[in-house]
Amino acid sequence: MEIEKEIKDYLKALKFPILNKQAFNEGNIKKIVCDGGHVQIDLQLGFYAKNPIAELKNIILKGIQELTSHKININITTKVKSHKAQAGVQTLPNVKNIIAIASGKGGVGKSTTTANLALALSAEGANVGILDADIYGPSQPKMLGIDQRPNSTDGKTMDPLVAHNIQVMSIGFLVDQETPMVWRGPMVTSTLEQLLRETKWSNLDYLLIDLPPGTGDIQLTLAQKIPVTGAIIVTTPQDISLLDARRGLKMFEKVNVPILGILENMALHVCSGCGHEEHIFGKDGGVRMSKDYNVDLLGSLPLDIKIRKDLDNGKPTVANDMSSPITKIFSEIAIKTASKVADISEDHSAKFPKIVIDKNG
Ligand SMILES: Nc1ncnc2c1ncn2[C@@H]1O[C@H](COP(=O)(O)OP(=O)(O)OP(=O)(O)O)[C@@H](O)[C@H]1O
Ligand SMILES: [Mg+2]
Repeated sequence: MEIEKEIKDYLKALKFPILNKQAFNEGNIKKIVCDGGHVQIDLQLGFYAKNPIAELKNIILKGIQELTSHKININITTKVKSHKAQAGVQTLPNVKNIIAIASGKGGVGKSTTTANLALALSAEGANVGILDADIYGPSQPKMLGIDQRPNSTDGKTMDPLVAHNIQVMSIGFLVDQETPMVWRGPMVTSTLEQLLRETKWSNLDYLLIDLPPGTGDIQLTLAQKIPVTGAIIVTTPQDISLLDARRGLKMFEKVNVPILGILENMALHVCSGCGHEEHIFGKDGGVRMSKDYNVDLLGSLPLDIKIRKDLDNGKPTVANDMSSPITKIFSEIAIKTASKVADISEDHSAKFPKIVIDKNG
């Protein structure tokens, strides 16, 4: 067998670390050239993952050394592709993929996970933004420690504020957060769309939308007017037993927005005094739910006072403590999420031809 073919077969049989799925297919094996005692291998992935990719590179190097005595050079790059939106929804030029973070019930940790997941995606190498869509009670300004107001450099669009390398827009930047706001349906709709479309996002791989709880006007706007690549449902173990999360799942299914997975929050209590771990709300709720509803469990986070304290200080744990086990959990969730997004884009582009509507014709 030719050495190039042998290498290709070897690559196709490899699993991606932590994801337990095929790492490379025809599409992302870009080049295998054996020439003059030298092998050049160029590979391209659809998502960032710093440590697993470094690990993978070492595995490949060792594996190919078994196949050939040539000098080996391996180059693995990442290219995050643009999303395919719901049919008829206008896409955003500077945002490749929009990920909605939702729940059926309030207070389960959507804003907490949005902030930390954004930071984790960014730590892997992606360009990330957050749109705080909780018009009734914005959380992101405080959680990310931002108290400025956005500028406009062109008089037409707002520049997002940048914290910990994340581009952020929130209604909280524009209104007095102490004053409760009364919003009517149409106002909510137009405000959310305006916040999204009139923010000067810069070259985002992922924009995370932190939703308010439930299935109200904001969710409807999201489904009808915002090009969403996929949704993550945040749930707590009690939420699972109350089936609120199921309502959240159904809502996205109805509008054909794929569910990237569920994220179980406050799954395990870790005592800040002695480190004792306790499943206050029962064990394996997330695993059960993912099986029952046939969605992936992206990860389970403990109920840990550190998570809340870091947010209250405007520096989420992922930004504050690189070596924390919580940061590690978020890193895995980020890689799983990003890889699922990469799969969706490929599926869509393969299934649907590009339709161009000629407005003049
Ligand atoms: N895993 C956790 N460990 C400790 N505290 C947490 C955890 N997750 C969230 N919290 C805390 O619980 C509170 C509620 O979390 P958060 O605001 O993220 O929920 P939410 O789902 O966004 O709420 P809402 O529905 O009101 O938008 C916050 O004070 C947050 O710091
Ligand atoms: Mg919130």
